[in-house]
Amino acid sequence: MTKKPVVAILGATGAVGQEFIRLIEERNFPYSTLKLLASARSAGKKMTVNGQEYTIEEAKPESFDGVDIGLFAGGSISKELGPEAAKRGCVVIDNSSTFRMDPEVPLVVPEVNPEDISWHKNIIANPNCSTIIMLMALKPIHDLSPIKKIVVSTYQAVSGAGKEGLDELREETVDYLNGREMQPHILPSKSLPKHYPIAFNLIPQIDKFMENDYTKEEMKMVNETHKMLHDASIAITPTTVRVPVFRSHAESIMVETADELSVEDVRKAIQAFPGAQVQDNPAEMDYPMPLYTSEKYDVYVGRIRKDIYNPKAINLWVSGDQIRKGAALNALQIAEYMLAHDMI
Ligand SMILES: NC(=O)c1ccc[n+]([C@@H]2O[C@H](COP(=O)([O-])OP(=O)(O)OC[C@H]3O[C@@H](n4cnc5c(N)ncnc54)[C@H](OP(=O)(O)O)[C@@H]3O)[C@@H](O)[C@H]2O)c1
Repeated sequence: MTKKPVVAILGATGAVGQEFIRLIEERNFPYSTLKLLASARSAGKKMTVNGQEYTIEEAKPESFDGVDIGLFAGGSISKELGPEAAKRGCVVIDNSSTFRMDPEVPLVVPEVNPEDISWHKNIIANPNCSTIIMLMALKPIHDLSPIKKIVVSTYQAVSGAGKEGLDELREETVDYLNGREMQPHILPSKSLPKHYPIAFNLIPQIDKFMENDYTKEEMKMVNETHKMLHDASIAITPTTVRVPVFRSHAESIMVETADELSVEDVRKAIQAFPGAQVQDNPAEMDYPMPLYTSEKYDVYVGRIRKDIYNPKAINLWVSGDQIRKGAALNALQIAEYMLAHDMI
């Protein structure tokens, strides 16, 4: 495309939508016209982007007439508006889980499987934030020797549950420190019948339980990894946990490969991988932590070490900003890739 695209952000008032706006400004993302869309609750509110004031509009199918790129962060409304926008010729890059496992929809991290973008039919899905952060560390290892098994535990920030998750941790912290009763109503998931405090606590449940007693979030990590690495034989055991951290997910991972790898080769491969950084110096107590990986573009990998018992396994620790690389940045990078390759 030679002219600048018409861009719409759906869910512009949310945690991911706000990040889209920051990144569009920071990365000088090109657009000729920008539309900010949200629910009827936000219609009429004003927002400034690149020094220009915009009025939020209620998202409707017609909102996508003439739009080239739709950056979707509106949650379940994607199911209705995604196909409507795609039908109107808009390339939808969607952050919800709606289309991720649809065989007609590519699921993409540009550093991991950019080749899948080419077969899109106007909808491209952004993977789950925990899957993205994990694969940014594991794809370079997979390129050295095929991954056979992954055991992963996540430490997921409350902002993964959107702006309401952030508010819940803030309010509960203030209540707890003032001796008041905490009143959880969002976590582990708004739609569930029971809620637990996240302040000064850990919740080993993200989203609902499936028939196999794994949560939906855990099964997303399994299924999405299989789809993106094009290998459904990889054995993956996830445990996803919500932690009282505002921003940036962390993950403890054991990865087993077909061949024995040296820690040195793994370090080199991760460091050479775009978007990943090795931060690993035990002597200096240097390792990635959510407080410091927040607002960063890259995913940080440390504590890289051989498994004590299995010579083909490596253990590592990863942390990355799930609103950036786990959501808005990844989606914007897909759009940037498509613009650079004349795919829009
Ligand atoms: N937060 C993360 O770290 C993260 C990471 C990866 C993926 N995601 C996914 O990204 C999406 C957005 O998440 P979020 O964390 O940004 O959520 P959020 O903070 O709760 O924001 C939700 C946004 O969607 C809008 N919205 C809700 N219902 C709508 C409707 N019927 N029509 C139009 N707009 C509607 C809201 O508008 P109003 O303000 O008007 O209500 C708001 O702008 C979700 O699918 C989420 O699973 C989030």
